[in-house]
Amino acid sequence: MDKYIIKGATKLKGSVKISGAKNAAVAILPAAILTEKTVSLQNVPDIDDVRTLIQILENLGANIRRRGRNALDITPGGLFRHAPAYELVKKMRASYYFMGSLLARFGQAKVPIPGGCDLGPRPIDQHLKGFAALGAKIEIKHGMINLSTNGLKGSRIYFDVVSIGATVNLMLAASAAEGRTVLENVAKEPEIVDLANFLNAMGASIRGAGTDVIRIDGAKSFHGAQHVIIPDRIEAGTFMLAAATTGGDVLVEDVIPKHVEAITAKLRETGAELEIEPERIRVWSKGVLKPSDLKTFPYPGFPTDLQPPGMVLLTAAKGLSVVTENVFDGRYNHVDELKRMGARIKVEGRTAMIDGGVKLTGAPVHVTDLRSGAALIIAAIAAEGESEINAIEHVDRGYEDFNKKLTGLGACIRRVEGPVVQEERINDK
Ligand code: EPZ
Repeated sequence: MDKYIIKGATKLKGSVKISGAKNAAVAILPAAILTEKTVSLQNVPDIDDVRTLIQILENLGANIRRRGRNALDITPGGLFRHAPAYELVKKMRASYYFMGSLLARFGQAKVPIPGGCDLGPRPIDQHLKGFAALGAKIEIKHGMINLSTNGLKGSRIYFDVVSIGATVNLMLAASAAEGRTVLENVAKEPEIVDLANFLNAMGASIRGAGTDVIRIDGAKSFHGAQHVIIPDRIEAGTFMLAAATTGGDVLVEDVIPKHVEAITAKLRETGAELEIEPERIRVWSKGVLKPSDLKTFPYPGFPTDLQPPGMVLLTAAKGLSVVTENVFDGRYNHVDELKRMGARIKVEGRTAMIDGGVKLTGAPVHVTDLRSGAALIIAAIAAEGESEINAIEHVDRGYEDFNKKLTGLGACIRRVEGPVVQEERINDK
């Protein structure tokens, strides 16, 4: 397990370019197998999750050609397997999107049940209910989900909870179903819109992405396509929150301001200053922040993925702030670690009360998932003294060059390779 050694009390200053969206890429790569022709993708983030998906695609028989660091050509004509390798799939939860895409391509899929995770329970009942409604037979045996069909048929599906994963999986499967599918109470995240644009570029017919209802007219065949992945709004939000937390001044470039409105609003409430241009946002703060309440919700609400770094911001604001996590049951892994750095936080159920305004002090801390990792790194940059952030592999999964980008803003971060203690269970995407 590698670690970061961070010398703190740094105000982040300068500009940073945002990479392509992880959560769009991890849906779009599995979607590429709907065609047999070549798909060219640009602005693909160079992160561990994408590297794992490339391995899964190659293992299934796809041909992948890298064109530079952030561009890929995928030619899945020679796909010969409908069962992604367990060793690869277990590394990342989003590999369950192969359920939808393999079902669409072959009429069958055999994918391991996504494992336990660090954000609380994460059922997939809505995915399975949707596949069944399209006419798939589902059998769960020996830890595998076996899906098969003699032909998917369009249907009307109402999701009981708003789920990004279920929306993606059903968009994939329904794109190849006969007739019309109507998905109701769907996720509206920009990554869903990006996936719809990509599938439409391949010949799918998807309308309404970005609203509560998506209508899909199934296509008989799909062709090659070119697509540029949208910027990562969560990465952008992470740097915006980091700028304000450290009392710094950061220009965040290559961002779509509409996608981060919940974050700009929250930052303004805490007294941070912002200048918003069409593709860049400058965030700065003189270091005096006001407390605020933060509630996570599906898009366009405040994203749960930014709740951990949002909480770090509130530890810097003098007074009482309340955080309510509405999306996941157990997404407070970072709290005990922040307490080790001196934060005063009390958690009751889904609510965390933060008595902010204490200067954090560096400490050894342990990362358990991607966004907690980002939060602890920001806390360490703001804290007095030295911190040791352990198990940073979680962060490599989802942020391209996170330490380099932070170092470019003045942070003092050193990566130290550590011995492999035991295999980590990494499946919290
Ligand atoms: C996606 O996970 C993201 N992952 C997560 O990003 C993100 O935290 C999460 O959405 C919420 O925004 C990807 O896009 C790859 P959900 P997902 O299905 O799809 C419940 C990150 O750090 N639910 O929208 O797994 C579920 O338990 C990650 O980048 C059901 O009850 O989340 C949760 O409470 C981690 N039944 C809520 O819905 C189901 O069948 C939302 O989950 C499916 C979900």
